[in-house]
Formats: sequence, C-alpha cells, structure tokens
Amino acid sequence: MIKTATTLLALSLAAMAAQAQSAAPPAGRLLASNCFQCHGTNGAGPGFDAIAGKSAEDIYKELKEMQRREPGNDIMKAHARGDTDEQLRQLSTYLSQQRKSSTSK
Ligand code: HEC
Repeated sequence: MIKTATTLLALSLAAMAAQAQSAAPPAGRLLASNCFQCHGTNGAGPGFDAIAGKSAEDIYKELKEMQRREPGNDIMKAHARGDTDEQLRQLSTYLSQQRKSSTSK
C-alpha cells in the first residue's frame, strides 16, 4: 500500500516536472533576445534605435531590406541574414508587442 502511494507520488512529481519543462517562452522571444544587447532589453532602448512597439510588419520589412543590403552596413545585415522568414516574422511579432521605454529615442 505504502509502496503504491510512493509510486503514485513519484509519477505525479515526474509529470509536474515534465509540465514545467514544456512551459515554452513566447514565440520569437528567444530569437529577439539576440537583439537586446544593442537595442536594449526587449528592444526598448536605450542603445541604438529602439525597435519595440513598432508594427510587426514594419520590423519584418526593415529586416528583409537589411538582408538585401550591399556589404558595408554589416551589423544588421548579418543579423537579418541569420534568420529564416518564419523566424523574422516571429521575432518581429514579439518585438511589436513590447513597450518602448520612456528613455528611448
Ligand atoms: C551588435 C549590435 C546590434 C544587434 C545585436 C542588433 N542590432 Fe539592429 N541595429 C544596430 C545598429 C547599429 C543599427 C543602425 C544602423 C543600421 O541600420 O544598420 C540597427 C538598426 C536596426 C533597425 C532599424 C531601426 C530604424 O528605426 O531604422 C531595426 C528594425 C533593427 N536594428 C532590428 C534588429 C533586430 C530585430 C535585431 C535582432 C535580430 C537586431 N536589430 C540586432 C545594431 C544591432
């Protein structure tokens, strides 16, 4: 009897652990975190241009333009080229949902 209870407890703990692990961060956040070093936490500045709070479509279009840039403006070209269209959509959507900070330009 005690053994059964212990087994049940172990099983439910394992189930809880599995559930905790599957709690994924919002889509695009991991990809967007790559941008925070330069564009501030959640893209809200301060730093280079704040990118939080723009429309997802605008961010996506800018990144697609950057992919096509001539060599020279390499920082953003390199970042934009590193992601697939699907990934750019995800991170653009995530960034569009973040607030600009009051100190950003
Ligand atoms: C190493 C620093 C650095 C990182 C990392 C970085 N950026 Fe940038 N970003 C810049 C600089 C510098 C500019 C301005 C010059 C330019 O356009 O290349 C810029 C400009 C931009 C612009 C244009 C803003 C405007 O108002 O014109 C967007 C959009 C942008 N970045 C998005 C991103 C996204 C999305 C990521 C992450 C995938 C990212 N950046 C990562 C440095 C960075």
